[in-house]
Amino acid sequence: MIIRALDGVEARAAVPALSGILMDCVAGGASVSFMADLAPAEAEAFWHGVAADVAGGGRALLVAQDEGRLLGTVQVILAMPPNQPHRGEIAKMLVHRDGRRRGLGAALMGAAEDAARAAGKRLLTLDTVTDGDGHRLYRRLGWQVAGTIPDYALGPEGGPCPTTFMWKRIS
Ligand SMILES: CC(C)(COP(=O)(O)OP(=O)(O)OC[C@H]1O[C@@H](n2cnc3c(N)ncnc32)[C@H](O)[C@@H]1OP(=O)(O)O)[C@@H](O)C(=O)NCCC(=O)NCCS
Repeated sequence: MIIRALDGVEARAAVPALSGILMDCVAGGASVSFMADLAPAEAEAFWHGVAADVAGGGRALLVAQDEGRLLGTVQVILAMPPNQPHRGEIAKMLVHRDGRRRGLGAALMGAAEDAARAAGKRLLTLDTVTDGDGHRLYRRLGWQVAGTIPDYALGPEGGPCPTTFMWKRIS
Protein backbone atom coordinates (compact mmCIF):
# COMPACT_ATOMS: atom_id res chain seq x y z
CA MET A 1 0.00 0.00 0.00
CA ILE A 2 1.33 3.40 -0.98
CA ILE A 3 0.07 6.75 0.32
CA ARG A 4 1.01 9.74 -1.82
CA ALA A 5 0.04 13.30 -2.63
CA LEU A 6 -1.21 14.07 -6.14
CA ASP A 7 -0.40 17.27 -7.99
CA GLY A 8 -3.06 18.98 -10.11
CA VAL A 9 -2.24 17.04 -13.29
CA GLU A 10 -2.22 13.69 -11.45
CA ALA A 11 -5.46 14.63 -9.71
CA ARG A 12 -7.15 15.32 -13.05
CA ALA A 13 -5.96 11.96 -14.39
CA ALA A 14 -7.31 10.25 -11.26
CA VAL A 15 -10.83 11.73 -11.57
CA PRO A 16 -12.47 8.48 -12.78
CA ALA A 17 -10.93 6.41 -9.97
CA LEU A 18 -11.71 9.05 -7.33
CA SER A 19 -15.30 9.24 -8.60
CA GLY A 20 -15.57 5.48 -8.27
CA ILE A 21 -14.47 5.67 -4.63
CA LEU A 22 -16.94 8.48 -3.89
CA MET A 23 -19.80 6.62 -5.55
CA ASP A 24 -18.99 3.45 -3.64
CA CYS A 25 -18.96 5.30 -0.32
CA VAL A 26 -22.31 6.99 -1.05
CA ALA A 27 -23.79 3.64 -2.16
CA GLY A 28 -22.56 2.23 1.16
CA GLY A 29 -24.56 4.84 3.10
CA ALA A 30 -21.86 7.44 3.84
CA SER A 31 -23.10 11.00 4.41
CA VAL A 32 -20.42 12.88 2.47
CA SER A 33 -22.28 15.82 0.84
CA PHE A 34 -24.04 13.75 -1.83
CA MET A 35 -27.36 11.92 -2.04
CA ALA A 36 -28.00 8.32 -3.13
CA ASP A 37 -28.88 9.39 -6.68
CA LEU A 38 -25.32 10.69 -7.22
CA ALA A 39 -24.58 10.28 -10.94
CA PRO A 40 -21.09 9.60 -12.35
CA ALA A 41 -21.10 12.99 -14.12
CA GLU A 42 -21.85 14.80 -10.82
CA ALA A 43 -19.11 12.85 -9.04
CA GLU A 44 -16.63 13.64 -11.83
CA ALA A 45 -17.56 17.34 -11.77
CA PHE A 46 -16.85 17.39 -8.05
CA TRP A 47 -13.39 15.83 -8.52
CA HIS A 48 -12.53 18.11 -11.44
CA GLY A 49 -13.18 21.01 -9.07
CA VAL A 50 -10.92 19.41 -6.47
CA ALA A 51 -8.18 18.88 -9.08
CA ALA A 52 -8.37 22.54 -10.10
CA ASP A 53 -8.03 23.62 -6.46
CA VAL A 54 -5.05 21.27 -6.00
CA ALA A 55 -3.43 22.83 -9.07
CA GLY A 56 -4.02 26.28 -7.57
CA GLY A 57 -2.51 25.32 -4.20
CA GLY A 58 -5.79 25.63 -2.32
CA ARG A 59 -5.79 22.07 -1.07
CA ALA A 60 -3.68 18.93 -0.78
CA LEU A 61 -5.05 15.66 -2.14
CA LEU A 62 -3.73 12.35 -0.84
CA VAL A 63 -4.50 8.88 -2.12
CA ALA A 64 -3.98 5.32 -0.93
CA GLN A 65 -2.98 2.94 -3.71
CA ASP A 66 -2.74 -0.83 -3.54
CA GLU A 67 -1.05 -2.64 -6.46
CA GLY A 68 -1.87 0.31 -8.71
CA ARG A 69 -5.52 0.59 -7.68
CA LEU A 70 -6.73 3.74 -5.88
CA LEU A 71 -8.67 2.60 -2.82
CA GLY A 72 -8.78 5.68 -0.61
CA THR A 73 -8.38 9.42 -0.51
CA VAL A 74 -8.45 12.45 1.78
CA GLN A 75 -7.99 16.19 1.32
CA VAL A 76 -6.54 18.99 3.41
CA ILE A 77 -8.10 22.35 2.59
CA LEU A 78 -5.21 24.79 2.90
CA ALA A 79 -6.78 28.03 1.65
CA MET A 80 -8.22 29.77 4.69
CA PRO A 81 -9.28 33.33 5.56
CA PRO A 82 -6.45 35.78 6.36
CA ASN A 83 -7.02 35.43 10.12
CA GLN A 84 -6.68 31.62 10.07
CA PRO A 85 -3.44 30.92 8.18
CA HIS A 86 -2.46 28.28 10.75
CA ARG A 87 -5.65 26.20 10.30
CA GLY A 88 -6.38 23.49 7.76
CA GLU A 89 -9.53 21.46 7.26
CA ILE A 90 -9.77 17.74 6.58
CA ALA A 91 -12.32 16.83 3.90
CA LYS A 92 -13.62 13.79 2.05
CA MET A 93 -11.87 10.99 3.88
CA LEU A 94 -13.07 8.11 1.70
CA VAL A 95 -11.99 4.47 1.55
CA HIS A 96 -13.63 2.13 -0.96
CA ARG A 97 -15.47 -0.73 0.76
CA ASP A 98 -13.00 -3.13 -0.89
CA GLY A 99 -10.16 -1.56 1.10
CA ARG A 100 -11.63 -0.95 4.54
CA ARG A 101 -10.42 -2.16 7.95
CA ARG A 102 -6.82 -2.58 6.77
CA GLY A 103 -5.47 0.68 8.14
CA LEU A 104 -5.86 2.82 5.01
CA GLY A 105 -7.97 5.43 6.79
CA ALA A 106 -5.42 5.80 9.58
CA ALA A 107 -2.51 5.94 7.10
CA LEU A 108 -4.29 8.57 4.99
CA MET A 109 -4.89 10.73 8.06
CA GLY A 110 -1.23 10.42 9.08
CA ALA A 111 -0.17 11.59 5.61
CA ALA A 112 -2.75 14.40 5.66
CA GLU A 113 -1.39 15.66 8.97
CA ASP A 114 2.17 15.54 7.56
CA ALA A 115 1.06 17.49 4.47
CA ALA A 116 -0.70 20.06 6.63
CA ARG A 117 2.37 20.47 8.84
CA ALA A 118 4.57 20.89 5.77
CA ALA A 119 2.22 23.66 4.62
CA GLY A 120 2.71 25.48 7.94
CA LYS A 121 -0.57 24.41 9.57
CA ARG A 122 -0.72 23.92 13.34
CA LEU A 123 -4.43 23.20 13.83
CA LEU A 124 -6.76 20.90 11.89
CA THR A 125 -10.55 20.77 12.04
CA LEU A 126 -13.18 18.48 10.49
CA ASP A 127 -16.78 17.45 10.82
CA THR A 128 -18.16 13.95 10.66
CA VAL A 129 -21.34 11.96 11.23
CA THR A 130 -21.68 11.40 14.97
CA ASP A 131 -20.69 7.86 15.99
CA GLY A 132 -19.92 6.87 12.38
CA ASP A 133 -16.84 4.98 11.18
CA GLY A 134 -14.99 8.26 10.64
CA HIS A 135 -15.82 9.55 14.13
CA ARG A 136 -14.35 6.37 15.66
CA LEU A 137 -11.25 6.61 13.46
CA TYR A 138 -10.59 10.24 14.37
CA ARG A 139 -11.05 9.67 18.11
CA ARG A 140 -8.56 6.80 17.91
CA LEU A 141 -6.08 9.15 16.20
CA GLY A 142 -6.24 11.76 18.98
CA TRP A 143 -8.86 14.18 17.64
CA GLN A 144 -10.88 16.13 20.21
CA VAL A 145 -14.64 16.69 20.05
CA ALA A 146 -15.68 20.34 19.91
CA GLY A 147 -19.40 19.60 19.85
CA THR A 148 -22.32 17.99 18.05
CA ILE A 149 -25.13 19.59 16.05
CA PRO A 150 -28.32 17.51 15.61
CA ASP A 151 -29.88 17.12 12.15
CA TYR A 152 -26.95 18.95 10.54
CA ALA A 153 -26.90 16.97 7.28
CA LEU A 154 -28.83 14.29 5.44
CA GLY A 155 -27.70 10.74 4.89
CA PRO A 156 -27.73 9.61 1.25
CA GLU A 157 -31.26 8.21 1.62
CA GLY A 158 -32.55 11.47 3.14
CA GLY A 159 -32.68 10.86 6.90
CA PRO A 160 -31.15 13.59 9.09
CA CYS A 161 -27.74 12.91 10.71
CA PRO A 162 -26.12 14.59 13.69
CA THR A 163 -22.65 15.94 12.95
CA THR A 164 -19.70 16.20 15.32
CA PHE A 165 -17.06 18.91 14.88
CA MET A 166 -13.53 17.87 15.85
CA TRP A 167 -10.09 19.43 16.10
CA LYS A 168 -6.46 18.42 16.54
CA ARG A 169 -3.30 20.39 17.18
CA ILE A 170 -0.49 19.16 14.93
CA SER A 171 2.39 21.44 15.89
C1 LIG B 1 -14.13 6.11 7.83
C2 LIG B 1 -13.27 5.31 6.84
C3 LIG B 1 -12.49 6.30 5.99
C4 LIG B 1 -12.28 4.43 7.61
O1 LIG B 1 -11.42 3.81 6.65
P1 LIG B 1 -10.63 2.45 6.96
O2 LIG B 1 -9.58 2.32 5.93
O3 LIG B 1 -11.58 1.33 7.13
O4 LIG B 1 -9.96 2.81 8.37
P2 LIG B 1 -8.96 1.91 9.22
O5 LIG B 1 -8.73 0.60 8.53
O6 LIG B 1 -7.77 2.74 9.54
O7 LIG B 1 -9.79 1.69 10.57
C5 LIG B 1 -11.08 1.11 10.51
C6 LIG B 1 -11.21 -0.05 11.48
O8 LIG B 1 -10.42 -1.15 11.02
C7 LIG B 1 -9.61 -1.63 12.08
N1 LIG B 1 -8.36 -2.15 11.48
C8 LIG B 1 -7.35 -1.43 10.95
N2 LIG B 1 -6.41 -2.27 10.46
C9 LIG B 1 -6.85 -3.53 10.70
C10 LIG B 1 -6.32 -4.81 10.42
N3 LIG B 1 -5.15 -4.96 9.83
N4 LIG B 1 -7.04 -5.89 10.79
C11 LIG B 1 -8.24 -5.73 11.40
N5 LIG B 1 -8.80 -4.53 11.69
C12 LIG B 1 -8.11 -3.44 11.32
C13 LIG B 1 -9.38 -0.39 12.94
O9 LIG B 1 -9.01 -0.72 14.25
C14 LIG B 1 -10.75 0.24 12.89
O10 LIG B 1 -11.63 -0.43 13.77
P3 LIG B 1 -12.94 0.28 14.41
O11 LIG B 1 -13.71 0.92 13.30
O12 LIG B 1 -13.66 -0.84 15.04
O13 LIG B 1 -12.42 1.31 15.36
C15 LIG B 1 -14.16 4.40 5.95
O14 LIG B 1 -14.97 3.61 6.78
C16 LIG B 1 -15.02 5.16 4.97
O15 LIG B 1 -14.56 5.55 3.90
N6 LIG B 1 -16.31 5.34 5.29
C17 LIG B 1 -17.24 6.00 4.36
C18 LIG B 1 -16.91 7.44 4.15
C19 LIG B 1 -16.94 8.20 5.44
O16 LIG B 1 -17.88 8.12 6.20
N7 LIG B 1 -15.88 8.98 5.65
C20 LIG B 1 -15.75 9.85 6.79
C21 LIG B 1 -16.16 11.21 6.38
S1 LIG B 1 -15.88 12.39 7.70
